[in-house]
Amino acid sequence: MKAELPSIGAAVAQAAGVLVPFSDTPRLDAQTLLAHLSGQPRAWLAAHPEAGLEADIFRAFEQALEWLGRGEPLPYVVGEWEFYGLAFHLTREVLIPRPETELLVELALEWVSKHPDRGQAVDVGTGSGCIAVSLAVNAPGLKITATDLSPAALSVTRENAARHGVAGQVDFRCGDLLEPVSAPVDLVCANLPYIPSGKLRGLPVYHREPALALDGGAQGTGLIERMLGQAAVRLAPGGLLLAEIEESQGEAAARLGEDAFPGWKVRILRDLAGRDRLLRIEREGA
Ligand SMILES: C[S@@+](CC[C@H](N)C(=O)[O-])C[C@H]1O[C@@H](n2cnc3c(N)ncnc32)[C@H](O)[C@@H]1O
Repeated sequence: MKAELPSIGAAVAQAAGVLVPFSDTPRLDAQTLLAHLSGQPRAWLAAHPEAGLEADIFRAFEQALEWLGRGEPLPYVVGEWEFYGLAFHLTREVLIPRPETELLVELALEWVSKHPDRGQAVDVGTGSGCIAVSLAVNAPGLKITATDLSPAALSVTRENAARHGVAGQVDFRCGDLLEPVSAPVDLVCANLPYIPSGKLRGLPVYHREPALALDGGAQGTGLIERMLGQAAVRLAPGGLLLAEIEESQGEAAARLGEDAFPGWKVRILRDLAGRDRLLRIEREGA
């Protein structure tokens, strides 16, 4: 006898149950998974819990649940994730884009719109390319160099740039931080690994996302410090640097910024929740 296929409502409930230990939003994530597999919008799934799943979707659903049950993050299972209103292809070689990083993109775009003559930007440690591609899509006049130490990550960046029609605006460079970039640069954006190694080992993301994308060394600020040293000889007069930081790193990051850019305007910006989130350095004048 053929096993009966579950309804959408039952499948969402089952997937949400599997996701509870790994997610703060298990039901939403379960709907996202089913939306991805079925090609139906989430709103439609929520409005039709009684509709039945088709056999091939059910098979893919069971396979996905197995991966999720082993702790595989949902964005890797579905192979893409949304950032700044755009869908980014993902592999296990790149960090899953985080909503908090949208603040960096928003501020960078605000600055670009006020400085239309500033055309050269860099995204340091580009990973999926979520920063570089979002900038390129929203600022068509900008040329962006996207760097990463990982060739596998850079091929995901390339794919995402092509997917959103901005490959011609982005120069992809494999190398250490800003080393592959020549001066002068108008805008430096960086979301580098900043979790202290010791702390990282105790976090759920450890082993779930690439260590190269998360591990910021003993203090967590080592890569940012090195990048600032490289930026000091590349940032054009009147340029801007934005670097994402961990909430506990505000004071340390400000000090590093002042050491690398003596006399320039160094600020720590907070996110909507009031947490230190960005190091901002504006190289005024000259
Ligand atoms: C925190 S992830 C950020 C990825 C992406 N920019 C984002 O915001 O989602 C940091 C990225 O920096 C890269 N990375 C680590 N060390 C690097 C280095 N020394 N030079 C260049 N890139 C590096 C990692 O491979 C990873 O893709």
